Amino acid sequence: MRTYFIAGNWKMHKTRSEAAELAKALVSQLKDGKHKYLVAPSFTALETVGNIVAGTNIMLGAQNMAAEEQGAHTGEVSVLQLKDLGVQAVILGHSERRHIYKEDDELINKKVRLALKHGLEVILCVGELLEEREAGKAEAVCETQTVKGLEGVSAEDLKRVTIAYEPVWAIGTGKTATPEDADAIHAYIRKVIGKLYGEAAAKAMCIQYGGSVKPENAAQLMAKANIDGALVGGAALKAETFVPIAKFA
Ligand code: PGA
Repeated sequence: MRTYFIAGNWKMHKTRSEAAELAKALVSQLKDGKHKYLVAPSFTALETVGNIVAGTNIMLGAQNMAAEEQGAHTGEVSVLQLKDLGVQAVILGHSERRHIYKEDDELINKKVRLALKHGLEVILCVGELLEEREAGKAEAVCETQTVKGLEGVSAEDLKRVTIAYEPVWAIGTGKTATPEDADAIHAYIRKVIGKLYGEAAAKAMCIQYGGSVKPENAAQLMAKANIDGALVGGAALKAETFVPIAKFA
């Protein structure tokens, strides 16, 4: 039985005081929540939020990290610095990193391996563009991003990886994949994991859906056999929209 995993990606939003206010509300409203939870604030709010969620059922995540441990990399943040703040997980390969900041599969894979080497959990995001979906390439794109993203990752380390399927056309657009369409891609990704790591690993793999998840559609998405949670952007910015998703029934 897989555990549902609901994560909030706060993107480039919130000052420290705004982040603290949301984190406090989530700690109190999710304390009886039954699933696995994570919040990923901006780097600047990690320490503030980390102090609030420490010792609760909400994990602290970062939205990105550098591919190198340390060194002359102006403007980057290293895995060692994240760990120093109590960060437990990192989102890698988000479509905004891939498409706005031109991160490729090779770079993302380097980050994945580095994060795992240092004991972090990883949420590896994959997903196709609208034109790729329309050209019938959604499965192929997700397969490539999954295979390349996981290159060199051992079966043991894979246990700390979650895959987030985020169709790019559904992110921040209000357009959600239908539960059926999302489930089909999730099933395909699971098959890819099976080919790489075997049946047991495929069964155990947590695959989140992301892209305009809202309180109104969360339960239908989660009801699907292959959807094991959500990576939430816009609706994660307020307790009143994140909590109902996190406590979907
Ligand atoms: P959204 O973002 O929920 O605002 O569509 C999801 C994501 O980018 O992870």
